[in-house]
Amino acid sequence: MTMAVNWREWVEDRFALEPIREVGFLRKVPGTPWYYGDGAALVLLFGVLVVTGMFLALSYSPSPDTAYSSVRYLTERATLGWFVRGLHYWSAGLMMVMAWFHLFREIIVGGYRMPREGTWFLGVLLLFGIFIMSFTGYLLRWDERALYSTLLSLHMFQNIPLIGDEIVLFVQGGPELGARTLTRFYAMHLLFTPAAMGLVLAGHLYLIYRHGVTSAAERRERIQSREQQRALYAREKERGEPFYPDTMAKSGLFALAVFLMAAGLALFSGPLPMYPEANLVNSTMPQGEWWYWWYSALIALVPSRIAPWLVVIFPPLLFLALVALPFLDRNPYRDIRRRPWMGAAVTASAATLLWLSYLRYHSPWTGWPTEALPPVPQEVRLSPRAQEGRALFSRYGCNSCHPIAGRGPHVGPDLMRIGRRRTPAQTRSQILGPPPGSPMPSYADRLSEEELSRLVTFLMELQR
Ligand code: HEC
Repeated sequence: MTMAVNWREWVEDRFALEPIREVGFLRKVPGTPWYYGDGAALVLLFGVLVVTGMFLALSYSPSPDTAYSSVRYLTERATLGWFVRGLHYWSAGLMMVMAWFHLFREIIVGGYRMPREGTWFLGVLLLFGIFIMSFTGYLLRWDERALYSTLLSLHMFQNIPLIGDEIVLFVQGGPELGARTLTRFYAMHLLFTPAAMGLVLAGHLYLIYRHGVTSAAERRERIQSREQQRALYAREKERGEPFYPDTMAKSGLFALAVFLMAAGLALFSGPLPMYPEANLVNSTMPQGEWWYWWYSALIALVPSRIAPWLVVIFPPLLFLALVALPFLDRNPYRDIRRRPWMGAAVTASAATLLWLSYLRYHSPWTGWPTEALPPVPQEVRLSPRAQEGRALFSRYGCNSCHPIAGRGPHVGPDLMRIGRRRTPAQTRSQILGPPPGSPMPSYADRLSEEELSRLVTFLMELQR
């Protein structure tokens, strides 16, 4: 006896796919505009990062002796390694951009309003997960740039009152940055954070499935109770579109466009070039990734008394502000036109992010050598030797950390009138060998005797 087998039914039954099809795909959802696809784009980027990360892990070796050369090998010799690394890098960058977009967009449509506060809180956690991923991933390259930026951020943690030193010890895995730090960052970057983010993301998606996304009717009406919202949403859903294929196609297209952008950037500009290998002994210049330019600009622009505090207080403040947002915004409307203050706040924040990034892009605050001479107050008369020292001050990137008379970034102390606090000999030894743990690089092997003496002359003449 023969029986025709319907394979589609067979697979559906044996793998119990029926409920998934009905619950997941065939349901109706309120129609949404194309830009609601930003969330899908983030999910796709997360997937791309996980997959490219797994491939990178095939060759990466998390030990100070081999980390750098393994990344070099990966980039230069492994088949398609350059592309995988590039895709990982650019997907990470675009994820940061899309995360801000998603955040601002949700604020605009009132996405954190009842009953979606839970969805919002998990989203805030995911945002901080992204920050942790980029902080830990940065060090893995183990080149000069990465190492010294990490030193610099660790130095900033030290400003946290009472527990600053403990935090640094904990993050570093010991009294100084070295092999244990790399192992820790590696474990955080590959295991802890992605696992935690995967769980939180699952919760985020579950809540989106349960509570849906802010519908057009919710954005129009004045909503005062959960019941009213429930009814409005149910009506919108009734009138809405099938999740599959309509919503999936729209969000999928948006996500695809973002992915193609990452792939295009990886293809045409490749991964980030490697800087010389970090050696933990001498010299270098730290520099953050472009997606943190706004942050370095912010720190550099605020007064030097506030900067060291702001740098550590800002992330927790941002976190608290985002968590508090649903409780503070009690306006019964969700339409941004009826929430002018919120509209102004979002516009101002987005504009500030872009403006700060732009400033940073065009500024000499980097840890890298610059042409621009450090500003010196008019009353200061410099001898010709000191003038040469002043040029060296920019050439060696000193003015990327030290302000003079309040002008410049505030990573290191202001060097105006340093001559009253320090003797020339003390200044020399600070430049040649900063105290252990200092973010200031040692210039021991980089300055000739002549250059050093000109630099010190310049610093000593910096007095009114
Ligand atoms: C990466 C940032 C950074 C760079 C680049 C840097 N410094 Fe520093 N510097 C610091 C920090 C931070 C301190 C605070 C003391 C410490 O941690 O060693 C400091 C301290 C000093 C001091 C002692 C200040 C005092 O008040 O006692 C001098 C002098 C100095 N730096 C000179 C220089 C010179 C000259 C250069 C360039 C050749 C330079 N620094 C480059 C970060 C930097």
